[in-house]
Amino acid sequence: MAKISHFECSRCHSSFSIEIPPTVCAKCAGSLYVRYDLSPFHGRTSRDDIARISSARSWTGMWRYGSVIPEVPPVSLGEGWTPIIRSRRYAGAFLKEEGANPTGSFKARGMAMAVTMARAYGIKKLAAPSAGNAAGALAAYAAAAGVEAHIFMPKDVPFANYLEAKMYGASVTLVDGLISDCGRMLAERKEKQGWFDISTLKEPFRVEGKKTMGYELVEQLGWEYPEAVFYPTGGGVGLIGMWKAFAEMEELGWVKPGKRPRMIAVQSTGCAPVVRAFERHEQVSEMWKDAATFASGLRVPKPYGDYIMLEILRESNGLAIAVPEEAILASLRDWAKNEGVLLCPEGAAATAAYAHLLESGVLQPEDRAVLFNTGAGLKYSDVIAEVAGIQRPRTTA
Ligand SMILES: Cc1ncc(COP(=O)(O)O)c(C=O)c1O
Ligand SMILES: [Zn+2]
Repeated sequence: MAKISHFECSRCHSSFSIEIPPTVCAKCAGSLYVRYDLSPFHGRTSRDDIARISSARSWTGMWRYGSVIPEVPPVSLGEGWTPIIRSRRYAGAFLKEEGANPTGSFKARGMAMAVTMARAYGIKKLAAPSAGNAAGALAAYAAAAGVEAHIFMPKDVPFANYLEAKMYGASVTLVDGLISDCGRMLAERKEKQGWFDISTLKEPFRVEGKKTMGYELVEQLGWEYPEAVFYPTGGGVGLIGMWKAFAEMEELGWVKPGKRPRMIAVQSTGCAPVVRAFERHEQVSEMWKDAATFASGLRVPKPYGDYIMLEILRESNGLAIAVPEEAILASLRDWAKNEGVLLCPEGAAATAAYAHLLESGVLQPEDRAVLFNTGAGLKYSDVIAEVAGIQRPRTTA
């Protein structure tokens, strides 16, 4: 397994020791990356060992990438190694089904890793603001690890997110505002309460958990990059994590360098700070006013790691696309009816963006594209029922 060598700032590249629990860069407040000595794991043999070692065990999930994640006993509920499903209609499209994770979303990966590391550092009280799914995941892993979870989330999150956080025993504060307001409330209280802040990109291990999506999709495609990756983007942890995974895989010699996928950040026209900054060629985003979308995970008006995402989008020759709410709903209906998959609204934003890029000729049908369904549609039953106008009939047969 990999030994962490140090933490490195994503902005000013300062190095920090691993002795104390990492937060953000002490010099410039940039997000930190975990750096390892990867030299023992170079080459194809080490890559091929992953499947061999994994199949000899009953279950490994995302922990199959032991050689590139911290060497610490995991707090696991069965996260990762999710199915990659070929579309029935689009020759090149593969759906990465993250709804199969514990707590029904990809947030499980980041929280499994962050809680694992928090436990290893001896931290007992964790806190996070959340658009919804991160709250459920944090609450579940905190329960499994026997530590406290303090959660702040908008009062109108999907009901499932509130329900799960309560059932897992977290302390939940519902806020009349957005995730940015939740983050502010948390920041005001954390010192006095002794909470460790595991907000998006304010500690480096959620990225380490989510980077496993990058390893998985490449391994599942036969250790080859697809042409494009469609990622419904809020705080951007997955996008940043996958790009880190690609860099590590190249350093390890597990994939050929030079042909990384185009990273496509997908947002809703109701909240598209990254798209606006990308289109204006800016280095950072501006706070999006009156953010509103039924894809609640995309309701992040000013992501902390915007500068990292924008750099990745440019470096990958990628794109940032905002999808109208009606197109998200139409794609959700379309994939349910024609593919048998009830996407989460965020995933449906990704599939809608994919259809748009096919129509406009930016991508060809045979180009391999991985579309992230970041959560299970069933977590949104109240939200989808409302936007799709579905009610239980009053009369029965
Ligand atoms: C289902 C779903 N998809 C996408 C996102 C956005 O994820 P990220 O913050 O990694 O950009 C979220 C965040 O809450 C989410 O819950
Ligand atoms: Zn820095």
